[in-house]
Amino acid sequence: MADDLTDFATLETIARDLALAAGRLIVDERPVGLGVAATKSSATDVVTEMDRRSEQLLQDELTRRRPDDGLLGEEGASTVGTSGITWVVDPIDGTVNYLYQLPAYAVSVAACTGDPSQPELLEPVAGAVYNPITGELFHGHRGGGAHLSIREVTQSLRASQEGDLSLALLGTGFGYEAQIRRRQGALLAELIGDVRDVRRGGSAALDLCSVAAGRLDVYYESGLNPWDRAAGQLLVQEAGGVVRIEDEQPGRLMVIAGSPALVDELAPRVTTR
Ligand code: IPD
Ligand code: CA
Repeated sequence: MADDLTDFATLETIARDLALAAGRLIVDERPVGLGVAATKSSATDVVTEMDRRSEQLLQDELTRRRPDDGLLGEEGASTVGTSGITWVVDPIDGTVNYLYQLPAYAVSVAACTGDPSQPELLEPVAGAVYNPITGELFHGHRGGGAHLSIREVTQSLRASQEGDLSLALLGTGFGYEAQIRRRQGALLAELIGDVRDVRRGGSAALDLCSVAAGRLDVYYESGLNPWDRAAGQLLVQEAGGVVRIEDEQPGRLMVIAGSPALVDELAPRVTTR
């Protein structure tokens, strides 16, 4: 166990270094008049050249520092390693915010254990999420707690323990396909009168960090991919929150994260099968 913790701490250091390097790249080398390089599931699901360059940097650094590990990245990086560790990376989470220069996007880097042929079941053991605009670096490893560093100052994070839904600040997000968004909007309309208020930040990785930091009492979103949630999920758990992942349809998962009582209460209301 002690060895595991030492190893997880080493993986956290690497996650931090990589998130910082990629975060600096997407700010420092953002071209003037950045445009959309490609679209994915719909015309609004965009990729910029900086998503690709950020993922390339993460891949190059991991190949250099951890040649035996696997890698799964949002923009297509996919290698199977031999060490038992798979890195799950989102080179820019909140790409639409990035495109519009809204200051809520991040690089998310997680080291995971488990079977890489079932990425939705990978277990994060170390991770970092970096917002290069605010300078906030969220980081942690299994058994080591969750932390927020801003420049030289580091603090421990504690998730909300709120038990009353009517007092809860609720976060959520929406997918990129119109039909799915309509359903997600209808579900939110049912909930909005039962909570304190609602926030939609535009980066699932940062939403989960907000849960870890107690800035949101609870968060749910359907259709997240492993790269959106891997690092943030670990940080919520390390901060004393709960993350529940429910199967909806094949290939579609509902993630609910927050205080233990609110996750219990919300899970049956938001999960649709
Ligand atoms: C998206 C963001 C958004 C969430 C979407 C994600 P991307 O990731 O995390 O907040 O609502 O489900 O796909 O496309 O910006 O990397
Ligand atoms: Ca993402």
